[in-house]
Amino acid sequence: MKEEQLLQNTIDFVKSELKNAEGGHDWFHIDRVYRTSQLLLKHENADGMVVLLAALLHDIADPKFHDGDEHIGPETAKKFLVSQGVEQETIDHVVLIIEHMSFKNSLDKNRASFSSKELEIVQDADRLDAIGAVGIARAFNYGGFKNRELYDPNVPPNLNMSKEEYKKSSAPTINHFYEKLLLLKDKMNTDTGKKLAQERHRFMELFLERFFKETGIQK
Ligand code: ADP
Ligand code: NI
Repeated sequence: MKEEQLLQNTIDFVKSELKNAEGGHDWFHIDRVYRTSQLLLKHENADGMVVLLAALLHDIADPKFHDGDEHIGPETAKKFLVSQGVEQETIDHVVLIIEHMSFKNSLDKNRASFSSKELEIVQDADRLDAIGAVGIARAFNYGGFKNRELYDPNVPPNLNMSKEEYKKSSAPTINHFYEKLLLLKDKMNTDTGKKLAQERHRFMELFLERFFKETGIQK
């Protein structure tokens, strides 16, 4: 199959799988990660097909919305790629990327066994979508979806949460900036990703400054 056709089939598949997804993890998130991956590929030397397929399939079944099941996403992606007759080596690489993508997995030392330029690129593109203006929108959307408070001056951010605590936490959304989003710029892999992250990071800082000014909270 021609590469163009495979990408189009993948786009169609992902769009239909994510029809009812929550706003921060819907098709438009995938589309942004896909386009940012294309941008990063212009400056980084990597297997473009692996990057683009992984970008499209990386959130096909987020464990957060599947009772914590971490296998369903990689499995769904694999089945799809097999059905498209994609070569085994590409399938294996894309599946490994999906398995290793999330921030939580990267905190898990047992999972840190795989790395590749292609993983670095898709991970950067996904992280860039969690910061800046879009990142702010996604965080509050996710908090709303979980019925969280916007902020609560009596609940300070917890910077030392274990993986388990982080998963169970129902802290106000503003805390998420300190617990995760402001840390992302230093976790970028590629030079291009680092550059893009700086600007988005600065915008979040400005947002937080205004937020605390308007709410009259002393930090
Ligand atoms: P990843 O894409 O690394 O798997 P997540 O799926 O955890 O990241 O997060 C996806 C989006 O949901 C991000 O924009 C993130 O900021 C937001 N999000 C995740 N957890 C929270 C939370 N506790 N509060 C607010 N937003 C959250
Ligand atoms: Ni994602």
